[in-house]
Amino acid sequence: MKVLLYGGGAREHALAWKIKQSPLLEKLYLCKPNDGFADLGEVIDANNFEELAKISKEIGINLLVVGPEDPLINGIVDEFTKVGISAIGADKKWAMLEGSKAFAKEFMERNNIPTAKYSLITDISRISETLDNFEIPVVLKADGLAAGKGVYIACSRGDAEAVLEEFLEGKYGEASKKIVVEEFLEGQEISLISLWDGKTLLPLIPARDYKKLFSGNKGPNTGGMGAYCPVSLTVDEYREIEKYLDNLKNALINERADFAGIVYSGLMMTAKRECNPEGRALPACKDELIPTKDGIKILEYNMRFGDPETQPLLMHMDSDLLEIFTKMTEKKLDEVELEWKQGQAFCVVVAAQGYPENPVKGGEISNIDEAIKENEVNIFYAGVKKQAGKLVANGGRVLSVCKTGIGVQKDIYDAINRLEYEDKIFRNDIGEVSIFGKGCCEDERTGHNCGV
Ligand code: AMP
Ligand code: GLY
Repeated sequence: MKVLLYGGGAREHALAWKIKQSPLLEKLYLCKPNDGFADLGEVIDANNFEELAKISKEIGINLLVVGPEDPLINGIVDEFTKVGISAIGADKKWAMLEGSKAFAKEFMERNNIPTAKYSLITDISRISETLDNFEIPVVLKADGLAAGKGVYIACSRGDAEAVLEEFLEGKYGEASKKIVVEEFLEGQEISLISLWDGKTLLPLIPARDYKKLFSGNKGPNTGGMGAYCPVSLTVDEYREIEKYLDNLKNALINERADFAGIVYSGLMMTAKRECNPEGRALPACKDELIPTKDGIKILEYNMRFGDPETQPLLMHMDSDLLEIFTKMTEKKLDEVELEWKQGQAFCVVVAAQGYPENPVKGGEISNIDEAIKENEVNIFYAGVKKQAGKLVANGGRVLSVCKTGIGVQKDIYDAINRLEYEDKIFRNDIGEVSIFGKGCCEDERTGHNCGV
């Protein structure tokens, strides 16, 4: 097979690494890779998707694999379908489950999929009456894509009002002129990434992503600072997830979601934190959870693999990814049985000082080969470029250090310590139970803590 992989983050590096292992691969082509993995394939590019599809047809590419959400929302799959090339990724219509939070909420409502209570707001004059219907903390979500910055958890009413005003005035352009105001849910988040062929929905093992910038779930939301899989779940939790997936499958069939791609459900296993006798939440974010009768609720849909979840997932997967993709394009996903390695896979993101707002660029990264060799880790690159033969940081999330097996976290952290890169920042608690509750909620702007 000749495969074209589109995208240039650590997720796409991991996809390229995994696809390269398939005996079905004749040649890998890459569109917009970063300098850290561009040598894994032949790089091709074009001015637009129509042209890219035409070039791909001419060179005999038979499969397109799309990493990020923007090209899906902008119709890359539709253009490839027109020239008869199969794709892994949603078409323009279904990419809107990620591209519009309001579209996703309406899809969930229509199909009785449990989700947080919400209101839509487009008008600044309605801020006050809208917020009156929600407790604090409250979650504010720009309807459209806002480069991962469109979700704000406000831990005080004043902050909620200020952020809503900023969003509605167009902080993120059209994307934030409509806002989903949503009930804050406490509990453990799970990234449930499923494969879909138009008929069968096949979940990968559950993964966990660490969204907050700092250890202990502090600081602003990011694209994700680390991940691991599988997450241990109880039998009851598995049953609940199965029930949800059945519901989702029926919804996708009923609404004729006819594409081969990814449906990533961001789930909250709702729970309350245990409180001490004074009725205040315990200070740490690792306390015992008391599951609530609300069960699981869906926070969001993404129509692509998660980043960084994909890095540990693909390291942990024993199956041939290209064979699975082929089955998806043939609508034979029901024939696939996924195989996984023993233990757990972890992945820690190394970002640049200043991320997510203003990451420092240009810092050199060295001692990489030694870190990989000594600790037997994989490194997947994101914001990097080559400059005069050296690898330098060129973005917020710079690279992911990953390993699968038993007790491998120490090797990952040892490898990160070995990396010589002055601006590195990373979380040191990837793999620990992570509960994001009211007691841990802190305004990004004012530092106000919700307490309970
Ligand atoms: P989203 O893009 O909708 O997944 O939101 C980004 C992150 O914000 C999620 O991964 C959660 O950590 C957090 N979040 C979103 N919605 C809620 C909610 N209703 N309650 C609590 N946290 C949320
Ligand atoms: N890690 C979360 C995402 O990919 O959206």
